[in-house]
Amino acid sequence: MTKNNMQHFPLRLGDIAPDFQQQSTEGLISFHAWKTGKWAIFFSHPKNFTPVCTTELGEASRLKPEFDRRSVKVLGLSVDHLEDHKKWVGDIQETQGTALNFPLLADDDRKVSSLYDMIHPNANDTFTVRSVFIIDPQNKIRLILTYPASTGRNFTEILRVIDSLQMTDQFKVATPVNWKPGDDVIIVPSLQDLEELKKLFPKGYKTLKPYLRITPQPKG
Ligand code: BEZ
Repeated sequence: MTKNNMQHFPLRLGDIAPDFQQQSTEGLISFHAWKTGKWAIFFSHPKNFTPVCTTELGEASRLKPEFDRRSVKVLGLSVDHLEDHKKWVGDIQETQGTALNFPLLADDDRKVSSLYDMIHPNANDTFTVRSVFIIDPQNKIRLILTYPASTGRNFTEILRVIDSLQMTDQFKVATPVNWKPGDDVIIVPSLQDLEELKKLFPKGYKTLKPYLRITPQPKG
């Protein structure tokens, strides 16, 4: 961190998500305190009163029961003013059939978007791009995704990654290409002890290669 508390190097997986305080539609947010003990999805969108963003905030609100079930808090950001956010919330409810049910940061001083490198000047020097951070209960960054302004995010994919992270944190497995909850998983190659394998995977496993072993998804 520099003197003014701005981070000037890229955030990477495994880094601690920087803490901040910023105003939001639900009052002042102190990020680490706000998410204590929970996972978080923190995402930026380019601008208020824009069509793609309106659909994204509707979808993220509709998915609240899915986020709650996974102990995930949701936080949005744009560089517009709080008063604008409050006006836009009415449009989201009217057009998306659901009320906004998570806080939206009003980052008009660009403090947080700079800290999280959400403004990519060669794409647009004022709007934030569509950044997504998945942050775990220990405040570690576990996923970083960046979408262009013209492409709305796929929240089903974001939930899928959370499901993968939560399971692979608990069991000695990884998830293969295009995995969906309920599909078979891969046993981590570092696990080679036969007794431990038998204990951890009582349903058995198929060995395609010594490093590629498939087993039914363990249940938490
Ligand atoms: C949108 O959310 O619709 C949008 C925002 C900025 C540029 C292009 C589209």
